[in-house]
Amino acid sequence: RKTYRIAAIPGDGIGNEVMTEGLKVMRAAAARFDIDLDFVSFDWANCDYFLKTGSMMPANWKDLLTGFDSIYFGAVGWPDKVPDHISLWGSLLKFRREFDQYINLRPVRLFEGVPCPLAHKKPGDIDFIVVRENTEGEYTSLGGKMFEDTDREFVIQESIFSRIGTDRVLKFAFELAQSRARRRLTVATKSNGIAISMPYWDERAHAMGERFPEVAVDLQHIDILAARFVLQPDRFDVVVASNLFGDILSDLGPACAGTIGLAPSANLNPERLFPSLFEPVHGSAPDISGRNIANPIAMIWSGALMLNFFGETAGHQRKNFREAHDAVLLAIEQVLRNGPRTPDLGGAASTSDMGDAIARLVSDGDTHR
Ligand code: NAD
Ligand code: IPM
Ligand code: MN
Repeated sequence: RKTYRIAAIPGDGIGNEVMTEGLKVMRAAAARFDIDLDFVSFDWANCDYFLKTGSMMPANWKDLLTGFDSIYFGAVGWPDKVPDHISLWGSLLKFRREFDQYINLRPVRLFEGVPCPLAHKKPGDIDFIVVRENTEGEYTSLGGKMFEDTDREFVIQESIFSRIGTDRVLKFAFELAQSRARRRLTVATKSNGIAISMPYWDERAHAMGERFPEVAVDLQHIDILAARFVLQPDRFDVVVASNLFGDILSDLGPACAGTIGLAPSANLNPERLFPSLFEPVHGSAPDISGRNIANPIAMIWSGALMLNFFGETAGHQRKNFREAHDAVLLAIEQVLRNGPRTPDLGGAASTSDMGDAIARLVSDGDTHR
């Protein structure tokens, strides 16, 4: 049977702390469900490596990672050591682009036992998934500065919306919406103000919509869409957005559901030509780093998404992966309901207390709902 090789890259700050817990839970799941996961840790793609070597990663990083089935990633960035655009464009954003991870899936859910900042919301009212375009859009390094240090100084920052890039993320989102019970797709736009890229995005969304007559499509401008995340989160099922809008919505959504410490993400190359990358939505959190108080669930849930992704092509082992994914999710639900809880959830438990509790439930717990 196949051994899945996973590159573990903790990165900076709490990336290291949540990685420890993620590995703990993944190993518990592998043992319980008879799957073979082989983790290899890499001590680059972090800001200390940059201070030592002058770059975020070794020159042959792509060769080093190419044979892996996936990358399990913590978080990168420590702005006091390295400017963020250098550390991120030198690591995470390179992975997303060069491994063509053009889908970024970011589920948002309100769990039982998690205090919700929105009034009168209960579990079930917030349960949607953001599909974020992940390789182009507003995230480019195209443009430049002119008339530097004069009073005519300006910068231009270009966006890219290619037909292939736009269509493939829309298609993925329509297919996902089609496969879900509610069959609703919200398309984030801003075609009233952004005069070229966003009308194009809308045009491609309408064209794609014709191929999915069963999906109820709703184009919403990003401003009111953000407001509705807060006021009417139950309206949403699948939300597809450009790179920047998807970035913003995928912090706002989890904040509405209690804490960004829970939010996972799957950066997918659906064709499996390159490794996909699984990471929390949150960053390296320098403000709480080193204190063992970060919530490890975003990292652990990201690991569950990785198991699910492996399962899709795992042949006779498919069932094992699905059960492993479900057992991790169930353990997360149980710990959110009964504790221990980290401070972002109003508790006083440590990162490792929470990771231990989840790993224990995955190893010994009842795995059926
Ligand atoms: P952040 O997500 O690191 O932190 C924002 C706030 O949320 C902080 O108050 C932090 O303490 C809290 N928080 C984050 N994760 C938490 C967790 N698991 N449990 C409890 N609280 C948590 O965002 P930031 O402060 O804007 O960025 C810090 C650094 O991380 C920057 O260098 C930024 O560029 C980088 N960053 C990296 C990634 C990534 O690698 N994917 C994502 C976002 C930010
Ligand atoms: C995320 C992060 C990254 C992004 C940053 C760190 C470049 O915020 O994964 O959401 O904007 O994509
Ligand atoms: Mn973000």
